[in-house]
Amino acid sequence: MSTPHSPAPGPGALDAALDRAFGHPSGLLGRLGGKLMSWSNAATEHRVVDLARLEPDETVVVVGPGPGVGLDAAGKLAGEVIGVEPSPEMRRLCVERSGDRVEVRAGHAARTGCADESVDVVLSVNNVQLWDDRAAGFAELYRVVRPGGRLLVSAHEKWLPVTRHELADEAAAAGFADLQTWTWDPPGFAGLAAQLRAVKPG
Ligand SMILES: C[S@@+](CC[C@H](N)C(=O)[O-])C[C@H]1O[C@@H](n2cnc3c(N)ncnc32)[C@H](O)[C@@H]1O
Repeated sequence: MSTPHSPAPGPGALDAALDRAFGHPSGLLGRLGGKLMSWSNAATEHRVVDLARLEPDETVVVVGPGPGVGLDAAGKLAGEVIGVEPSPEMRRLCVERSGDRVEVRAGHAARTGCADESVDVVLSVNNVQLWDDRAAGFAELYRVVRPGGRLLVSAHEKWLPVTRHELADEAAAAGFADLQTWTWDPPGFAGLAAQLRAVKPG
């Protein structure tokens, strides 16, 4: 509560709270944010898994799975599925949801812990806007994907720091080819998603 001596929380405090709930989920706010995201972003997570056309013998990395809705869906389709997630709270939610059907590890887009060319598909939903260094992130994902492997990225268009076309150019600069980008309007209140698909040249 604010008093004459303690000013009302300003936009900085609000931004920090939103970041703790959704961007870098931690503590109680992070757990609440995770529950909310598992509902509000579910359609997009499922959409991206559908677009990836995963096969039972494929290895999939899900970057920034948050509460793990897409990670879990991928785990039901692909052979080996690894979630790379920096937030301990979100890693816990992923394990609660999927048990040992998926592997969940600490890391981030620029440090996945995967070997060179060991992955068939990388999925990233609603986290590319949070990568500290997108060039390093795309370079890491290019390193771990096998030739012919696929990258799918989706993000709330309104939160992207660059246009989806510029994002596609950044993925191309890392080496990805056959870039396609489009927008998708998910059901509910999530807002327009900017999505892109790319392939590592074979
Ligand atoms: C807005 S949430 C989205 C979670 C989920 N994919 C969804 O759409 O509901 C962002 C997630 O990305 C994670 N994250 C933050 N920085 C990241 C980074 N550099 N690389 C990978 N994930 C990151 C956060 O911990 C959080 O779980």
